[in-house]
Amino acid sequence: MCGIVGYVGHRPALDVVLGGLRRMEYRGYDSAGIAVLDGGELTVERKAGRLANLEAQLDKVGRETMSGTAGMGHTRWATHGAPIDRNSHPHRDTTQRVAVVHNGIIENFAGLRAELEADGVEMASDTDSETAAHLVARAYTDGDTKGDLAASVAAVCRRLEGAFTLVVTHADEPDTIVAARRSSPLVVGVGEGEHFVASDVAAFIEHTREAVELGQDQLVVITREGYEVTDFHGDAAQAKPFTVDWDLSAAEKGGHEYFMLKEIEEQPEALANTLRGHFESGRIILDEQRISDQDLRDVDKVFVVACGSAYHSGLVAKYAIEHWTRLPVEVELASEFRYRDPVLDRDTLVVAVSQSGETADTLEAVRHAREQKARVLAVCNTNGAQIPRESDAVLYTHAGPEIGVASTKAFLAQIAANYLVGLALAQARGTKYPDEVAREFAELEAMPAAVRKVLSTVEQTRDLGRRIADSRAVLFLGRHVGFPVALEGALKLKELAYMHAEGFAAGELKHGPIALIEEGLPVVVVMPSPKGRAVLHSKLVSNISEIQARGARTIVIAEEGDETVRPFADELIEVPAVPTLLQPLVSTVPLQVLAAEIARARGYDVDKPRNLAKSVTVE
Ligand code: F6R
Repeated sequence: MCGIVGYVGHRPALDVVLGGLRRMEYRGYDSAGIAVLDGGELTVERKAGRLANLEAQLDKVGRETMSGTAGMGHTRWATHGAPIDRNSHPHRDTTQRVAVVHNGIIENFAGLRAELEADGVEMASDTDSETAAHLVARAYTDGDTKGDLAASVAAVCRRLEGAFTLVVTHADEPDTIVAARRSSPLVVGVGEGEHFVASDVAAFIEHTREAVELGQDQLVVITREGYEVTDFHGDAAQAKPFTVDWDLSAAEKGGHEYFMLKEIEEQPEALANTLRGHFESGRIILDEQRISDQDLRDVDKVFVVACGSAYHSGLVAKYAIEHWTRLPVEVELASEFRYRDPVLDRDTLVVAVSQSGETADTLEAVRHAREQKARVLAVCNTNGAQIPRESDAVLYTHAGPEIGVASTKAFLAQIAANYLVGLALAQARGTKYPDEVAREFAELEAMPAAVRKVLSTVEQTRDLGRRIADSRAVLFLGRHVGFPVALEGALKLKELAYMHAEGFAAGELKHGPIALIEEGLPVVVVMPSPKGRAVLHSKLVSNISEIQARGARTIVIAEEGDETVRPFADELIEVPAVPTLLQPLVSTVPLQVLAAEIARARGYDVDKPRNLAKSVTVE
């Protein structure tokens, strides 16, 4: 939550920072702001609302007022203080010489604020972040940190509690930007005669793919010539350089109206890239495997912890992992996990699934699991993010950058990665013979083509979306792996179209929710294959006829050629036949398309749903 960018180099900082903010807006869009250093002058512009509002303001004041080749910017997801101009970042100290942008929450800000106010400082905003600007200004004018911006920022960081990334400038050090992090993301971009800091490499990918990942409690000073990493005590520290394996085109819309529509189309590649390299010499290979084969053999229970769509990917995987490994699998919302004293020990494997690798709820669940001595394996889409860093092993989903706030390609990639974890466990524990593991992997490898086929037929789903866009609510039903798909379909519709939507296990309907059915209510039913689990199929056919009899408008996602279901389907969306456990990879796609199209028809921004942000770094 909140996107930050900092730059020192040879180009106009305003252009570089605005370009970066455009690609950071997925992290929050409550306000945007920018500070540019020019010689000894610090100029700040900030505005509530989307980046477009800031750009309009810049046009009004004249962009030439912000010339200079060092600067920083911020795009906000509000935590402390309403999303209004004065709470927008950058925040400055009372002398207006120091500017700060912040991502995260300073948990001890109330005490710090009281201390500053007792000192006569008048706060200009309601934010926790502003305290950092005043504290840095004080440190810069006093004591052994006097006149040293890096030392001043380090001293302030030592006093802060909570999660934060800070980027700080001082008008007296015009060619320097200082940034620091604790439990919030920060990467450095290394260019020729220019350096960047940002929440995410997408901010500077058009200028360089060479990056450095900062560790916990590290601080970096960037100048035109280089960068220097220390800890919060000023001692030199090691940071990890890496080369980004995607380029600008991945972070651009590429002719699509919305990122989400592009990302839906990228799902076959996301799946293929996630699977690539994970089956060699007849064995499943995970990435950074710091859990030994013996440890995997000793696992006696699996937890999947995650939030939102990632949680749904865990619910899907439970069916496969239990089936393949005969281990009990519990899937838990990360935000609930550590508060209910789950039974964990060194033979428990906790799989933490997170696209961003930053989600605070999931990170805290990881920390709790490790404190209880459980092994933690992260499934993550973001190289070097905090969750994989704090885990014992990591399996990266190579879905590429996901910029639309609603998860699509990352979700499918998470299912595939979770399945790889299941197969790795089955392989280590010997619950599947090598030829069976090879067969399951080959079936997974066939999925990009199946998803491509679904994508070639979505026009009908779009048309349906437009026709039902005025509905008051939509229900989603499924059984077995179709149940989490129903939950995911409902989540997509809620977050994108602001429509009441709920997913149910179809068998539960008669225990209450069937009372919701009324004339014309659209109900989406995710059918299992008639060949795979015939009993499930026939039960679901009965459930559809029950709701149809009560007036529901049935929208049925079914396998090609499933004629038995046709009489019960007011609308039939066909998907290719695939093995039962892999059906979520095809049946989710029409639900994503449906939600996006309904949202478009209702006039909403599909990429930036209200109140949401892509990385949720608060609990
Ligand atoms: C829904 C969505 C969210 C995320 C959730 C977890 O479309 O995107 O529900 O899935 O916030 O995020 P990560 O995977 O980054 O931990």
